[in-house]
Amino acid sequence: MARERKPGIKAPPASPAKIEVVPAILAYSPDEMRARIASVPDCPILQIDLMDGKFVNNKTVGLDELADFSFPPGKLIEYHLMVADPLEWIGRLPAENETIFQVHIESVEPAGIPRVREAVRARGLHCSLAWALNPPTPLPAIEPHLGGISEVLVMTVNPGFSGQKYLPEMEEKMRALRAAHPALTIEIDGGVDKSNAERAVNAGANRLAAASALFKQKNPQAACQELKRLANHI
Ligand code: DX5
Repeated sequence: MARERKPGIKAPPASPAKIEVVPAILAYSPDEMRARIASVPDCPILQIDLMDGKFVNNKTVGLDELADFSFPPGKLIEYHLMVADPLEWIGRLPAENETIFQVHIESVEPAGIPRVREAVRARGLHCSLAWALNPPTPLPAIEPHLGGISEVLVMTVNPGFSGQKYLPEMEEKMRALRAAHPALTIEIDGGVDKSNAERAVNAGANRLAAASALFKQKNPQAACQELKRLANHI
């Protein structure tokens, strides 16, 4: 039964940490990945960028090199799979931590979607699936496949490289997604920095992945906190 609120008693303020900033870790070797992770020790979520040189024109650290990789306990790991064969990566990536597999809808044939869901399910209850979509991909590409999905990754650059410019026209997508799915986690990725974080949040984003804005600074952890404060208006 819903609790009655006494007149004059205000609802609690929204959590100041409702917007999360997620370091996007794009690394070419396990050592580089470890170093990047170590530079943002207080960030609860890490996005691991994985590229196979096929889905995008860049190649990061690969499956074999990551086979024994362990992430700091307690972190939520998001694998951003910019790969042509997401099934293989979902099956073989380490998944000791709570894990989200961010799969590009462009990399899966509609008939293959149940197999992707099954592959994630097979990794355990602590693993979940998120759909990612490239800038040219419209929302109807994912809308029929959102059942049981709690996160969508809206790319705000064409994937492949760090250091590109944020595409403000993607805010239309964020707004439409937020209007239709108030409880969805909407993560954005690409060119996010202090100049655009607030407008992205106003458009509906509640998780901001960022690489350059953090790792090009002397102190990535401090840069992360600052961006988070700004995004949360505190
Ligand atoms: C883009 C990657 C992003 C990228 C973000 O291909 O998916 O995660 O590393 O880098 P910045 O924040 O520099 O755009």
